[in-house]
Amino acid sequence: MTKRALITGITGQDGSYLAELLLDEGYEVIGMVRRSSTVTFERIAHLQDRIATVPGDLLDQASLIDLLRTHRPTEVYNLAAQSFVQTSFSQPVLTGDVTGLGVTRLLDAIRIVDPDIRFYQASSSEMFGKVVEVPQSEDTPFYPRSPYGVAKQYGHWITVNYRESYDLHASSGILFNHESPRRGLEFVTRKISNTVAKIKLGTASELRLGNLEAERDWGFAGDYVRAMYLMLQQDAPDDYVVATGETHSVRRFCEVAFGHVGLDYEQYVVIDEAFYRPAEVDLLIGTPAKAEKVLGWTPTVAFEDLVTMMVDADIDLLSGRLGPIS
Ligand code: NAP
Ligand code: GDD
Repeated sequence: MTKRALITGITGQDGSYLAELLLDEGYEVIGMVRRSSTVTFERIAHLQDRIATVPGDLLDQASLIDLLRTHRPTEVYNLAAQSFVQTSFSQPVLTGDVTGLGVTRLLDAIRIVDPDIRFYQASSSEMFGKVVEVPQSEDTPFYPRSPYGVAKQYGHWITVNYRESYDLHASSGILFNHESPRRGLEFVTRKISNTVAKIKLGTASELRLGNLEAERDWGFAGDYVRAMYLMLQQDAPDDYVVATGETHSVRRFCEVAFGHVGLDYEQYVVIDEAFYRPAEVDLLIGTPAKAEKVLGWTPTVAFEDLVTMMVDADIDLLSGRLGPIS
């Protein structure tokens, strides 16, 4: 039987890595893309002749039903979202509609068109928010601290609900922060690596950041998409935390990134209130014990290697040594 996967959010960081992995596994890959007046295919340009891109939007139920009917995927990976926490405070309704209700639209389309489709929901450690225990596992209660976290919690529970109500093979991956040279420039890790590269190359002189004390469990995106794939290969659907089990502060990320190019972060980082959030998630650290045991998944890239990989890639990119995707 042809293995055919539909990826929503294929133009994003994770979508590009997942598409590569599924192509390597012999899948036919279909990527849902929303209408835009500019081309957003930078991360998947190198895959264009191996994947099909089809129009659709998580805000539009009919487009989802039509897409499933036409392309008949066997697996659906729902990676599309308004995924930037800071923006969710200024656009809470849009975030709820896309990141929360969008999951229901897709699950309902699956229920209507083909309930045998296996489904992956991109849930988030942001749901743990003001954490009630350390480290966080599949059993840790949620306490989201942003409209994004609240929307993701809805998306998580509607996935569980469709699994229990309609017997869908629907799994929720509670993924902790994962980064790469393909990370969006607005997220703190890429903002740091990109600005460090600019400072090193002489085109920037400072890095403006918010809360340096926030701690995150940062892993490599290429590792995390493998966990998504493994979840859909299990006989039974379930929920899994995917994390490294290590946490580091934004300050430490700066120290390693600047240190890698022989600079002292304290000379360049400027604190800017504009990057503080109305409510903060101070500490995230997950335990990947269940993913390790059941899926056989382990992270392969250590924190320092992730930071230096991102800085090196941005130096190569900005100095014209490499194309945008590496
Ligand atoms: P990303 O780079 O921001 O990509 C988001 C994707 O969603 C883009 O392809 C975007 O398309 C698409 N999208 C946005 N609104 C849409 C809509 N209304 N209809 C259809 N597509 C839409 O995010 P990512 O880092 O790859 O993350 C992938 C998923 O995992 C997201 O759901 C995110 O919330 C979740 N997650 C990420 C992390 C992490 O650390 N990266 C951790 C936990 C969970 P355009 O290119 O057109 O904007
Ligand atoms: N973006 C950003 N920009 N964050 C900053 C800055 C800044 O200038 N200065 C400090 N930070 C802090 C934020 O306050 C936050 O505590 C931390 O850096 C990480 O911020 P982001 O990189 O924007 O990621 P996030 O943790 O809020 O959200 C990411 O991870 C979630 C999983 O926990 C996103 O990828 C979400 O989509 C994902 O679900």
